[in-house]
Amino acid sequence: MKIISKIVEMQKLSDKWRQEGESISFVPTMGSLHKGHLSLMEEGKKRGDRLIISIFVNPTQFGAGEDFKEYPHDFKRDSELAKGVGVDVIFSPSIPEMYPEGFQSFVAIDKLTKTLCGISRPHHFQGVTTVVAKLFNIVKPHLAFFGKKDFQQLVVIQRMVKDLNYDLEVIGLPIIREDDGLAMSSRNKYLSREERVTASSLNRSLILARKMYQEGIRNAREIEKKVEQIVGENGLIKIDYIRICDQENLLDIDRVNQKAQLAVAVNIGATRLIDNCELGEEK
Ligand code: PAJ
Repeated sequence: MKIISKIVEMQKLSDKWRQEGESISFVPTMGSLHKGHLSLMEEGKKRGDRLIISIFVNPTQFGAGEDFKEYPHDFKRDSELAKGVGVDVIFSPSIPEMYPEGFQSFVAIDKLTKTLCGISRPHHFQGVTTVVAKLFNIVKPHLAFFGKKDFQQLVVIQRMVKDLNYDLEVIGLPIIREDDGLAMSSRNKYLSREERVTASSLNRSLILARKMYQEGIRNAREIEKKVEQIVGENGLIKIDYIRICDQENLLDIDRVNQKAQLAVAVNIGATRLIDNCELGEEK
């Protein structure tokens, strides 16, 4: 397994592999790897000849007062885990390598980033799309793997790839969860023992919402209210949003007559957690 920190070196290696007819799978990450990340890598390994991951804690997607400085780093552990799933290259650039002096170009996706997490994190998605666009130009993948854990991020990246004609396929993969249902996240490390126990109510509320749907309830507000009740019953959790939205344009829907996404974001103490699930049937 190679570790590459220079953009030009990464581009040359990807060019070589492409010229040799090898397909490249890519999994972008911010490190602190867990089974959610590893599931994307395992799928990338299966579906491509070469597997490249990136580990880069991207400063432009964190707002002022967010956890950029505290974001967990453990490169040694991450590289052992990556090696274990057969990663060919970890691309791990420095901040000045990605954002040298004079940097001033950004990729902005319009409406999709103005709802859900975009309301409380207004600059977040521009940071994500800018770094992912750069990573696509550096790694030159055929296939790029993202988790549905960050559902809005996946939809935004799919839109960017379509709108800007990136010649690659974006693949969204299921959420990997802890035994009690909490979606795996690098940020779970921030939770105290009490907060960690409380956090499992997020997934419990999603399970109940799906049950309501299966029992025939189609009124989106009624389902959202029940979710709010379950998540909000513990004083430790502050709700940011609970929304049932269209899977493509992310706009609120009133009746769940077609496939829809229930998305939840909360703050537990200083930690922001998100989760989501699908409701509904094929259109
Ligand atoms: P990060 O939070 O490290 O996540 C990297 C990838 O792992 C994302 O596609 C995310 O959706 C996926 N992932 C995280 N937790 C998961 C889980 N429990 N199950 C399945 N997949 C999971 O998302 C980012 O980094 C950054 O925004 C990035 C795209 C790398 C740009 O900086």
